Amino acid sequence: MTGRSATDVVVEQPTSAAVEGSTVQAGIRRRRPSPGARARFRSRGHVGLDDLWTGAVGDALAEEAGRLFPTAVVPSAGPRTPVAALRRIGAATRVAGGPVLEELHGTLASLVRALSGRMLVPSFAVYGYFPEEDGVVLHLDTDATDIVLLTTALGEVGPLILHPDLQGQTPRQLGDRESDPRWDSGGGVPLSYPSLGVTVLRGAQIPHGRPSRPVPTLSAVAALHYRSPY
Ligand SMILES: [Fe+2]
Repeated sequence: MTGRSATDVVVEQPTSAAVEGSTVQAGIRRRRPSPGARARFRSRGHVGLDDLWTGAVGDALAEEAGRLFPTAVVPSAGPRTPVAALRRIGAATRVAGGPVLEELHGTLASLVRALSGRMLVPSFAVYGYFPEEDGVVLHLDTDATDIVLLTTALGEVGPLILHPDLQGQTPRQLGDRESDPRWDSGGGVPLSYPSLGVTVLRGAQIPHGRPSRPVPTLSAVAALHYRSPY
């Protein structure tokens, strides 16, 4: 589990200018991580940050994710783990992006920099859709990502399972692992997505995935990616 707490972020009051602006700007509750959250992220490569935004922002994400689902497509680029057909879990995840998510993406860049201590910039942000089941094959994120923020935009999915013990393995090695029926894909570190906040993950370093299970309603996870510009 993440071991996160309400002290993981520093509370800031929205400015009057922000309140007069967009739903996202008015609804951001915390923009700086606490020293404890920074230390945990830098030592473990992941941390959960609760309560970063108001329910209005959560509602805006849910509305946008639901409205854009009919336009979602399978991305042409992305992580590809070679997995034997018999062990393939879940369908290809379709994705879509929208202006609310884009604004949140840019707004949280300063938090990502403070958390990581690195000059990272937004690369891409998408909703990933799980209409029937929530399986994600064991993978590493793409080269376009150093850090990813994950939040449930719509519905509910199971915990993401991290496999820090598999760091350093290639996609082919991860595919061999995922293809082995003796391997327990649920045996890693489970990370639940915080309410109105994010799980922060070094997704290009720590292999991660999720065993498939049915979802009762259309579910979507927003993934906000950041990378070094250099
Ligand atoms: Fe990923």
